[in-house]
Amino acid sequence: MLTIDNFHKLTKKEKKEIFKHHDETIEKLVASLISHKRFEHSLNVAKVAMSLAKKHHLDVHRAYLAGILHDITKDLSYDEHLSYLKYYDPDKCEKPRPILHSYSAKYFIKEKFNYYDKEVLNAVYHHTDGKSKAKLAMIIYIADKREPLRKLDDNLLELAYDDLYKAFALLKEDVKEFVKSKNG
Ligand SMILES: [Fe+2]
Ligand SMILES: [Fe+2]
Repeated sequence: MLTIDNFHKLTKKEKKEIFKHHDETIEKLVASLISHKRFEHSLNVAKVAMSLAKKHHLDVHRAYLAGILHDITKDLSYDEHLSYLKYYDPDKCEKPRPILHSYSAKYFIKEKFNYYDKEVLNAVYHHTDGKSKAKLAMIIYIADKREPLRKLDDNLLELAYDDLYKAFALLKEDVKEFVKSKNG
């Protein structure tokens, strides 16, 4: 079983090697850090993201990593998020609690996994705010909200295969409306 403690003992080269493949090794590492339900969700996001990446001619492995890692800090405490953000990204400390994990994840992945791919980290960082129009970031934003466990049976995912920009814009609008209705 690969846990975060075992992972720390690996050499730099061994760590790098793990992130080059999408297989059980990385999945065990992720599974040791988040709840089972969240792991299932992350795996689904990775699968949907890979399929969208393939359709849009993006690197499928990066899509896998961004998907599997996007919620890696979601089970951390509020104080743990703040400890990353105070140090690396103080402007984000004031953001609403439910979205802090997308920002802290970027620094967690760099610090704990020694993984630095800018595209992947950008997609993880913006998976809740939808503020990046990088194709991989749009894919993760959509996959996160339309993976099968969400049970949202509209045709947004279908649309994302044909027109990523349009699907992304529609979903952002949808989320905005939802937040507005929640806040009265
Ligand atoms: Fe998330
Ligand atoms: Fe998620």
